[in-house]
Amino acid sequence: MGDRVHGGALGRAVADFVIVKASDALFPTPDGISDEVASTLPVAGSSAAAALAAVGLRAGDTVLVGGAAGGVGIFAVQLARLAGATVIGTASEGTFPFLRKLGAEPVAYGPGLADRVRDLGVTAAVDLFGTETAEAALDLGVPPGRIATIAAGPNPPGGVRATGGADAEPGALTRIADAIVDGRLTVPVAAVFPVERIRDAVALQAARHVHGKVVVTL
Ligand SMILES: NC(=O)c1ccc[n+]([C@@H]2O[C@H](COP(=O)([O-])OP(=O)(O)OC[C@H]3O[C@@H](n4cnc5c(N)ncnc54)[C@H](OP(=O)(O)O)[C@@H]3O)[C@@H](O)[C@H]2O)c1
Repeated sequence: MGDRVHGGALGRAVADFVIVKASDALFPTPDGISDEVASTLPVAGSSAAAALAAVGLRAGDTVLVGGAAGGVGIFAVQLARLAGATVIGTASEGTFPFLRKLGAEPVAYGPGLADRVRDLGVTAAVDLFGTETAEAALDLGVPPGRIATIAAGPNPPGGVRATGGADAEPGALTRIADAIVDGRLTVPVAAVFPVERIRDAVALQAARHVHGKVVVTL
């Protein structure tokens, strides 16, 4: 009672309390992680971890991350770097400095993507925006089993893997929280809205040019 916890994405907020079902995964929030940052972990962190696991990411890989600066991308880029991979992330040009700070080599999304990364030795890809990155990786000869998307529905093209946060391995969130506490991973929070301004939060997110996570507070 009274502990700070995160997770439990299905919890229902009632006044000052949150009711959680026994089946909801809840984790203690370590000192040094704010509730705002902790709130970003369960869905976005899990989705990023699941996508990297789906492609069997390992040290020495060069992974192409589509939509790398978004709420899921910030986790995917940093987790891939921590795993010892080289990361190439797609974004628009104004976002390149943000991606470089996270540890990714930026490249522009849009037509010709495969040609822009052809000489960079891509060995795996995760598409967080749709199918463009997945298709570019197929075009480069990356095996479909080493390409995943979280944003193209259950049947992505070319045998590419569809995945999502529910596929994250047990322990993924604890590992992310530990990395934050140790200063190995940061969570850029793009904006914080009180729940009364939920419409503004949704409009910002729906425009699909967010860099980091949007947080809504109760
Ligand atoms: N956010 C979450 O917590 C969360 C959790 C689970 C699943 N998802 C799902 O995961 C997917 C990614 O969500 P997200 O919140 O990370 O990001 P998002 O809002 O879908 O995308 C934001 C990022 O995509 C880039 N972008 C814009 N147009 C693009 C294009 N045509 N091609 C490639 N990238 C483009 C933007 O970069 P520029 O600003 O440089 O254009 C921006 O950084 C969505 O399908 C979402 O439903 C999200």
